[in-house]
Amino acid sequence: MDTSDEWIVERTGIRQRRVSHVGSGELGVVAGHRALAAAGKQPADVDTIVFVTTSPELLIPSTASLVQKRLGIADAAAMDMNVGCSGFLYGLALANGLLGTGVSKCLLLIAAERLTWYLDWTLRDTAVLFGDGSGAVIMEPGGPDEGLLGVDLGNDAAAAEALLVPNFGTVMNRVEHDMLELTVQFDGREIFKRAVKGMVKSGLTALSQAGIDLDAVELMIPHQANKRIIDMAGHKLGIDPAKVYINVDRYGNTSAASIPIALSEAMDNQRIKPGDAVLFTAFGAGLSRGGAVFRWGPRAERLGESDQELPPGNASGLEIIRPHADAMIARAAAQG
Ligand code: UT7
Repeated sequence: MDTSDEWIVERTGIRQRRVSHVGSGELGVVAGHRALAAAGKQPADVDTIVFVTTSPELLIPSTASLVQKRLGIADAAAMDMNVGCSGFLYGLALANGLLGTGVSKCLLLIAAERLTWYLDWTLRDTAVLFGDGSGAVIMEPGGPDEGLLGVDLGNDAAAAEALLVPNFGTVMNRVEHDMLELTVQFDGREIFKRAVKGMVKSGLTALSQAGIDLDAVELMIPHQANKRIIDMAGHKLGIDPAKVYINVDRYGNTSAASIPIALSEAMDNQRIKPGDAVLFTAFGAGLSRGGAVFRWGPRAERLGESDQELPPGNASGLEIIRPHADAMIARAAAQG
């Protein structure tokens, strides 16, 4: 397609991304195993599974249910949430409510996406941006000044058409539908503007709810869509750039999964210490947005590691997309 590495790096900051050979459920199972090991928990300890995704493995049943079975969790509440790239923060807020009211005592929150499945590989405005991945956390009730101290969620439905996959779902005509028609309808500039505004607004509201100043934030983990969006939102918030975690260069935009992937890396890199206040900000399809201030508990190391891996796959990312891209290119050529 008519693009270049130079354009992509300069306009988005993306240098690498992952293309999965398996569905979001399989990705989520690996993240789930690793989160369980990190928290020192067994599958049987989990009483609630929240699976956040815009790319479910199936529509029925929920991907949470598929993952529950694969993780060997005999009985638990299980549900999917679809809130675009803000999904992880909505999931955190939901988890906080379920734990706070005693409905859940040990909740597995997984975010996983196989966004490359949606892409039209002939469209340069979207084909270069998105990647696949997953991250997960175990949540339990904590002490009085720990956990979610402030949260702000919102959704600007009037702008929903700026990011949408049209005619996919039960509105589809099953007789006439051509799956190659599937595309991500996308107004990058519009989302860019709203993303910066939305992340700043939700970030500030979450901070004021938490009753802490930006100076007290040790680390900001924003949704990773575009380095320029992150830099601009950080600048408008007034946070020291050294406190902003960025890994969009290595994964592209993994939607709901981007924040927990970054969080996991931040822990690997000892960027989070016990008692630290972490600011999360996100925006995405909906157009949804969210901000959250999270105070870390007394432990910032993993209790264990899981050696769980994805099912084997020998194909490279390019080999995985090649047949799809070829079919899309042929279709575009036939349509002139
Ligand atoms: O997580 C929620 C999902 N949303 C997002 O991640 C998207 C947020 N938006 C963005 O990240 C940016 O708007 C983009 C990266 C999508 C685009 O960056 P931009 O600086 O807003 O570029 P633009 O859309 O204003 O396009 C600038 C030029 C255009 O050409 P003309 O009209 O100036 O001649 C585009 O046609 O860049 C062209 N262009 C490309 N050129 C090479 C657009 N995509 C590409 C491409 N390669 N892949």
